[in-house]
Amino acid sequence: MAGGVVVLTIYPLYAQELALILGSHSHSIIRLLNESLQLSQSFQTGYDSYCPLLEFKHMLHIDQNKSKYIDTLREAVAIQSVSAWPHKRDEIVKMIKWAEARLKKLGAEVELCDIGLQLVTFDGRPRFESLALVVTWSNTMNWLVSNEIGAQIAVPCTEELPDGETLPLPPVLLGLLGKDPKKKTVCLYGHLDVQPALLQDGWNTDPFVLTEKDGKLFGRGSSDDKGPVLGWIHALEAFQATKQDIPVNVKFCFEGMEESGSEGLDELLYKKKDEFFSNLDYVCISDNYWLGTKKPCITYGLRGLCYFYIEVVCACKDLHSGVFGGTVHEAMSDLVYLMNTLVDKDGKILVTGIYDDVEPLTPKEEALYHNIEFDIPAYKGDISTKKLPHNEDKVKLLQHRFRFPSLSLHGIEGAFSEPGTKTVIPGKVVGKFSVRIVPNQNPEKIGKLVIDYLNAKWEQRGSPNTMKATLRNAGRSWVSDPNNPNYLAGRKATQLVYGVEPDLTREGGSIPVTLTLQEVSGKNVLLLPMGAGDDGAHSQNENLTQVLSATETNPSANSAPFQLPPLAPDNTTNVLFPPPPFPNFIKPMLLAHVSAAS
Ligand code: BES
Ligand code: MN
Ligand code: MN
Repeated sequence: MAGGVVVLTIYPLYAQELALILGSHSHSIIRLLNESLQLSQSFQTGYDSYCPLLEFKHMLHIDQNKSKYIDTLREAVAIQSVSAWPHKRDEIVKMIKWAEARLKKLGAEVELCDIGLQLVTFDGRPRFESLALVVTWSNTMNWLVSNEIGAQIAVPCTEELPDGETLPLPPVLLGLLGKDPKKKTVCLYGHLDVQPALLQDGWNTDPFVLTEKDGKLFGRGSSDDKGPVLGWIHALEAFQATKQDIPVNVKFCFEGMEESGSEGLDELLYKKKDEFFSNLDYVCISDNYWLGTKKPCITYGLRGLCYFYIEVVCACKDLHSGVFGGTVHEAMSDLVYLMNTLVDKDGKILVTGIYDDVEPLTPKEEALYHNIEFDIPAYKGDISTKKLPHNEDKVKLLQHRFRFPSLSLHGIEGAFSEPGTKTVIPGKVVGKFSVRIVPNQNPEKIGKLVIDYLNAKWEQRGSPNTMKATLRNAGRSWVSDPNNPNYLAGRKATQLVYGVEPDLTREGGSIPVTLTLQEVSGKNVLLLPMGAGDDGAHSQNENLTQVLSATETNPSANSAPFQLPPLAPDNTTNVLFPPPPFPNFIKPMLLAHVSAAS
């Protein structure tokens, strides 16, 4: 059978590992199986490689191995692969090698690709000093820095040092499982680095010790993105354990710097465009989340990101506010003034011209947001916030998350932020903020608009201090075609597992490599999330829910049978984008569904 159908058979199985890492309660397995069996009856045409019995064996295997899968995730979470912590760089290398061993166990051919050095810059005070890393920075003064465990170390720094040290980037793990020329090839991307996490940030349990409670698995990276990466590996292991032929060739691309902007990865992809990344058929990334907790989604868009620093210096060292207060122009007041000119209380960005290139909202697109399930009280409740902007209108909120830019203020390096009352005037502060950008905003142009705006505001302020606004890193937004066979397969898979047609969503976050993967392979990229909207990625108590089942948790799920878009006479469908002409192999499947539905 043609390869598209083959892909359509793996996606149920790969969505099924949603039954996940985790296995799943047996009654939900039976439920899922019933769904699969019912649906499979309409698959006769063009579906000879789809076999519910094998799928049952696969599910049963997953169910029986749940605790083993959880133990594997426990091992992964214990590795502190925080890409923002230079002193933990060897932990990322350890994590990549750990994953390499797992891929080897699957029988994959693997390669660790060196992607060179990272320039580590310290714009204000370095946050960490460790034995493993000699930290240098450009200040001429002695700064007090605290190390990871909170001890104070005085670091002498008597001469101007270069603005930055180099540090090796962790290798990128590439793998290949299966080389059958008759099969399609799916490329999977995932990241094995995580966001920083400290118990004292407010975690209830040690962030690097996977802890089970109330059906949830708590730990840094459980949802973003170690859990989903393992979900894939476990699904493939289950194929092998149940002696099933994996219906596609799989290529893996796992990196360890995503949370720090995927430095070095684009270059590797372009370098390997005509080797590893040639001859792919589909790309799939599992690194986002359901919108809520009850209804699955698949995702066809991401916002991009422009990250800025504003550095203000008023003195060569911190000052006693009793001695110097009233006699100096303070850097913090300048910085707070500037930061407060960027965005108003309702989230409207005040930078001149910033909305000019935003893709206009057509009535057709507007209509899409009405159909997406988004539980506003639950969303508010999860974060305990009083009132959301845009009058809490669902459609407006989704649009402002998916397809309008937003500006967030993140923090101030060098500002006093510890508990207690320290009467200090910081000598140098670095304000950090970012803009999530959208189609058709260009990162360089947005960078220039923002910096010109800040320079103009600085002019108006008339402060004698020094101010420097810079664009630190930038990534483009991405939108895909949800009518591509890749998406139809993902939808069918999700429906088979959860008994409900997934919402088609876009996301407000960024995965820097997405657009590059699409450009380098020339193929469609699908985002297939495994985590839920309340997993707390990047937050305290990040977790992965053990069993996500719309059929169990959403009583209305079964009343919404899966339907592919009806075939219009001209072979177009009624979804968002003008679809590509369907390849021949997908037509029988569409027809089968249309006839089953009628
Ligand atoms: N998994 C996220 C991407 C994401 C975030 C998807 C929110 C859906 C919703 C990814 O690990 C991430 O955190 N990306 C960073 C990228 C940045 C460091 C360039 C982000 O979006 O902040
Ligand atoms: Mn992620
Ligand atoms: Mn992340």
